[in-house]
Order: sequence, then structure tokens, then C-alpha cells
Amino acid sequence: MLNMTENPSELASPLVIPHPSQLEALVPAEETLEENQIVGFDGNDIRSRPFNLLRSQVIKTLESNSWKLFGLTSATPAAGKSFLSMNLAAALSRLSDKTIYLFDLDLRRGSLATALGIESKTGLGEFLSGKTDDLSSVGRRIGDSNLALFPCHRVKSNSAEMLASKRFEALMAAIKDLPDDVVVICDLPPAFANDDTIMIAQHLDAYMLVIEQGITTKKQMNNTVSLLKPTPCMGTVLNRYVGGLIDPYGYGYGSGAYNKYYSD
Ligand SMILES: Nc1ncnc2c1ncn2[C@@H]1O[C@H](COP(=O)(O)OP(=O)(O)O)[C@@H](O)[C@H]1O
Ligand SMILES: [Mg+2]
Repeated sequence: MLNMTENPSELASPLVIPHPSQLEALVPAEETLEENQIVGFDGNDIRSRPFNLLRSQVIKTLESNSWKLFGLTSATPAAGKSFLSMNLAAALSRLSDKTIYLFDLDLRRGSLATALGIESKTGLGEFLSGKTDDLSSVGRRIGDSNLALFPCHRVKSNSAEMLASKRFEALMAAIKDLPDDVVVICDLPPAFANDDTIMIAQHLDAYMLVIEQGITTKKQMNNTVSLLKPTPCMGTVLNRYVGGLIDPYGYGYGSGAYNKYYSD
């Protein structure tokens, strides 16, 4: 009989994505949310308004195309993919008629566990490498919301192999089997960091391109769209646009340390 150590690509039983209600709840600390600029859970916070607008546009696009699974990527690192994925998921989770899933698929630079203060060391990397078969040990329900987050703790190497694995294929197939009232958001790596985004994009219905004001060039945008074809680009978000959609309330620029995105 096969066991997981002998053949980590084999799953013991068919994979089912657990419903948020089947997952351990995590109530993020107020300070952690504030520190990580996660404002989308609080409809009374004026900073959550741009995410309500984005939420409506996303739902309209998904529904009109019969899509449910999309990712956020960018040409350049630190464009705000995780910031937008998390806040968009939070804003969507305030809609009672939808179940929201957020998967951290930036395997080498997963950041959502830290952003929400998740201490467990079992993430999607452990699932994809065969250390666990149990997705309910990976996912967390955020508070009593209908949002499930599947975090990823930074994978040191072999992310491309993990994304080419049967486990990743099974994960994507299980996501596609989710009912139609779900929205599944994947926080992705930047498109040019390595092959990871291309490999993931093949499984997605569409992706959203995050453009960083003053940083991302038109050429980079066009190159990203060509690179990820035939997966359609469902829209673009201009992040850090001073006085605009996401940045009307004095958000600053992110840390310069992100320039070294994949260098260590
Ligand atoms: N519009 C914004 N306003 C304030 N902070 C932002 C904004 N966009 C991104 N950030 C911050 O910049 C940093 C990098 O963003 P992040 O979402 O992690 O980038 P990426 O996932 O694209 O690498 C994070 O600390 C994030 O909170
Ligand atoms: Mg990120």
C-alpha cells in the first residue's frame, strides 16, 4: 500500500475543499489588522470603501462570465497584490450570499498568515509537498465570517515542482468543484519572478493585474498580458494612486525592502 512518505504526490482520498464553517476560527487582533492595512472587514471604516467598489466590479465580472476562480498578479514586486487580495476578500466576506476563499499561492513569499497573525506552521506548502493531506489543518475561517483563508508559509525551493504536481492539480480541480456561489481569490507571485504565475494562471478563470502608480510601465503590462495568455485579464487595479480609487486617505508607499523580492 502506498503511504505518503513513499509517494507524496498521491492523495489518500479525493480532495474536497472544506467549507469555512468546518474550519478552525481565527479572530485577528485589531492591531494586527491595522498594522497590515487590512481595513476591508469593517464596513464603517472609511478606508474600506474603495474595496466595496472593487467588490461590486469583481462580482459583476465574475457573474457575467460564469467565473469563480481568479488571481491577482503584477508585473513588478510589492505592487500591492496581497494587500488588495486580503482587503477584497474581506469586503466580499461582508456579503451574506457568498462564500469566499482566499488562497495564498505566492509559495515563496506567502504573506497572508503573518498579515492575519496565523501561528500554525501548516500551510499550502506543507499540503503540496505531501506533509499533510488535510486541508482543514491548513485553512482558517476568519472570525464568524464566510471567508476561508488558506495561507502558505514560505517554501524555500521547488515551488515550480509543487505547482506541476498532482497535488496542485487536485487542489485546482477541487476548487473548480465548489458550488457556484463561491468566489475564490488567489494571491499570486509577480508575473516575471519565475514560472510560478504562468503555471498557476493556466488553472484560473481569469486574473486581475495590479498596477503600481508610477512604477509599472505600459510595456510591462502588455508583456504580462502576453505571458499569461490565454488566461484572460479580467481588469486592472491602479494601486497607490494618490487621490484615486485605492488611495484617497493618505496611504503611503510600501517598504523599499520589497525591491529584493526574490533575491534571498
Ligand atoms: N494602497 C496601499 N496603501 C497602503 N499600503 C499599501 C498599499 N498597497 C500596498 N501596501 C503595503 O505595501 C507593502 C507591499 O504590498 P503587498 O501587498 O505585500 O505587495 P505584493 O503582494 O504585491 O508583493 C505591504 O506592506 C502593504 O501593506
Ligand atoms: Mg504578496
